[in-house]
Amino acid sequence: MRKPVVAANWKMNVTVAEAVAYYESFRIEVENISGVDIILAPAFTAIPKLSELLGGSQKVRLAAQNFYFERSGAFTGEISAMMLRELYVRYVIIGHSERRQIFGETDELINKKVKAALASELKPIFCIGETLAEREAGKEEEVLERQIREGLKGVSDRDICDVTIAYEPVWAIGTGVNATPDQAQSAHRHVRGVLASLYSSGMAEKLRIQYGGSVKPSNARELMSQPDIDGALVGGASLDPRNFAEIVKAALKCRDCK
Ligand code: PGA
Repeated sequence: MRKPVVAANWKMNVTVAEAVAYYESFRIEVENISGVDIILAPAFTAIPKLSELLGGSQKVRLAAQNFYFERSGAFTGEISAMMLRELYVRYVIIGHSERRQIFGETDELINKKVKAALASELKPIFCIGETLAEREAGKEEEVLERQIREGLKGVSDRDICDVTIAYEPVWAIGTGVNATPDQAQSAHRHVRGVLASLYSSGMAEKLRIQYGGSVKPSNARELMSQPDIDGALVGGASLDPRNFAEIVKAALKCRDCK
């Protein structure tokens, strides 16, 4: 059975003071929960303080929302994998549609980041997803396949185990319109099929695929109870610690009913 993984992507929200207050109440909400990997992805500025508060917690791990693939050097404004590792960051979100669309990240750059993260023991949360135009043109499966093949090029059978895939249809991100459980399940099934062709069906069955795009407490359970949906990557709804805890609890219930 795949362990569910639920991650909060705070994006460019939450100051250090707000992160402290958030964690105070979130910690209590999830105190008695085990069996779900819980990840918080704050802005870089809140990472040191959260890292200190978490103090090596096995329950809640930290992710960065971005990094640069080079080890060090003249890259003004960028942050390396080693800098994140120094703060006990375990995961990094790579290929988020906002990075692809607003910051022009290409499949090639994303692939460099995936490989650099793995080489530095940062686990990628590798995001893929089609736009509305691509879905309307019936191209969603083709787009997902290209993003996976290009993004994971050169990632070995051993390293792929450390990758979590996040299927996030762009039209569902921040819009309040989530993919229906059927749409999401069908995309996840397709993604698993592509992974099986790149690696093996045994490996594809082990890899975790999160759904992201307008996940909230009211739809989390229905989405995550789908057979190929192994958790959620949550933006807007993760900004409230109680809402995010509700989604974590829904993941646990779904695990138990699968
Ligand atoms: P949303 O964002 O939950 O606000 O739709 C999801 C994401 O961008 O990861």
